[in-house]
Amino acid sequence: MTTELKELFENNLRWARDTETRSPGFFTGLLKQQAPQYLWIGCADSRVPANDLVGLLPGELFVHRNVANVVVHSDLNCLSVIQYATDMLKVKHIIIVGHSGCGGVAAALHDTRIGLADNWIRHVQDVRNRHQAWLEMVDEEQRVNALCELNVVEQALNACQTTIVQDAWQRKQELVVHGWVYGLHNGQLQDLRMTVASAEDTMTAYEDAINLIRVRYTPDLVPSEVD
Ligand code: CO
Repeated sequence: MTTELKELFENNLRWARDTETRSPGFFTGLLKQQAPQYLWIGCADSRVPANDLVGLLPGELFVHRNVANVVVHSDLNCLSVIQYATDMLKVKHIIIVGHSGCGGVAAALHDTRIGLADNWIRHVQDVRNRHQAWLEMVDEEQRVNALCELNVVEQALNACQTTIVQDAWQRKQELVVHGWVYGLHNGQLQDLRMTVASAEDTMTAYEDAINLIRVRYTPDLVPSEVD
């Protein structure tokens, strides 16, 4: 048994050489600066490789990933990433990306105990609880994906409400927050229309995005049937 993960180093060497052959000077160019336009906040799931699925190279996407793509107001890790990306790198877009069939979201929906992560997933349970009445009207087999999408919109709202994003908008910095979901079954991204470019637009965008999810999953429901 080998313990050195030789294959990964071989893959890396091949990738580095191929990249340099395709565009000579690629790595030395990156030494000078990184100037990404986008901050991606996604799930840690191995099936959702951020750069690959939007076709971006090293240097083009600033990335933060955690279980179930959660943005928590007291999470120094995520907040530090948002702050650095916004204030120093001046990214123009912050994109919260969930994905269908998310294990963290499923655990939150079904109260499945995982371990330490239960405390983290608790934030997704807050989302579930907020939308409990509606979620119960969604077909059971679609409920996880519905909560995945609600979670994206709620976490994007959290991102909008951070002091970092609020301050950026206050000083008229160009910055748009987005909510997207990735389909594990077809490899495609879907825009959930939680697209916010200013503090004033936040709640309207949030309500519209939530309504779009509701219309998609429960088209026969009259709005007044849900609180
Ligand atoms: Co996930």
